[in-house]
Amino acid sequence: MAIVSPSLLAANFANLQSDIEMINHSEADWLHLDVMDGVFVPNISFGFPVLEAVAKICKKKLDVHLMIVEPGKFINEVKALGAYMMNVHYEACPHLHRTVQQIHEAGMKAGVTLNPHTPVCVLEDIIQDVDMVLLMTVNPGFGGQKFIEHSIEKVKALKALIQRTQSHALIEVDGGVNGDTGKRLVEAGTDVLVAGSYVFRAEKPEERIIELKHFTR
Ligand code: DX5
Ligand code: ZN
Repeated sequence: MAIVSPSLLAANFANLQSDIEMINHSEADWLHLDVMDGVFVPNISFGFPVLEAVAKICKKKLDVHLMIVEPGKFINEVKALGAYMMNVHYEACPHLHRTVQQIHEAGMKAGVTLNPHTPVCVLEDIIQDVDMVLLMTVNPGFGGQKFIEHSIEKVKALKALIQRTQSHALIEVDGGVNGDTGKRLVEAGTDVLVAGSYVFRAEKPEERIIELKHFTR
């Protein structure tokens, strides 16, 4: 069974309440929240006032993905949401080890995110300290993009690194996940599937969540 984390980025922003209620009643494990600043990525999504409203009604664990420069500045804000997982980009953190430590001190799980061009080997000296690695399987910034096929090899390389170092880190993937790519990603070693358009743009989103959840290695 995979952990499923639907991405709110593809929800109906004019009626978030109904989409979050759907998630609450579904078999989704987490809710993935994409924060973009227009600097680290070429798009702006939503910020903390919106997330606070979402956090109040969402019953699932919050999986916060910060696509922003200097994400370490916002640890307290993410903590205040009651977030379960705080994902920061490797490319945005010159002092990644310290940022991971501070996320842990705040009582959250720490995830490190890699852009498509960043190789898994850069995690060699931090893999034992993180709870999750989030591999971007599209270039971050937008929903609905095409899956980058090389990501399958990257999941395998990350899985090998995790096993070799006896790390407890989970592998999460984000971007272009659907029934085909999701199945192959889980077979390659993925633990957590993020899916935006595949879930929220479907006629029966709950069924898509169940489909993704039931992929096994
Ligand atoms: C993209 C975001 C994703 C996005 C995925 O930068 O990080 O979480 O919502 O969207 P889909 O699943 O539509 O590719
Ligand atoms: Zn994301």
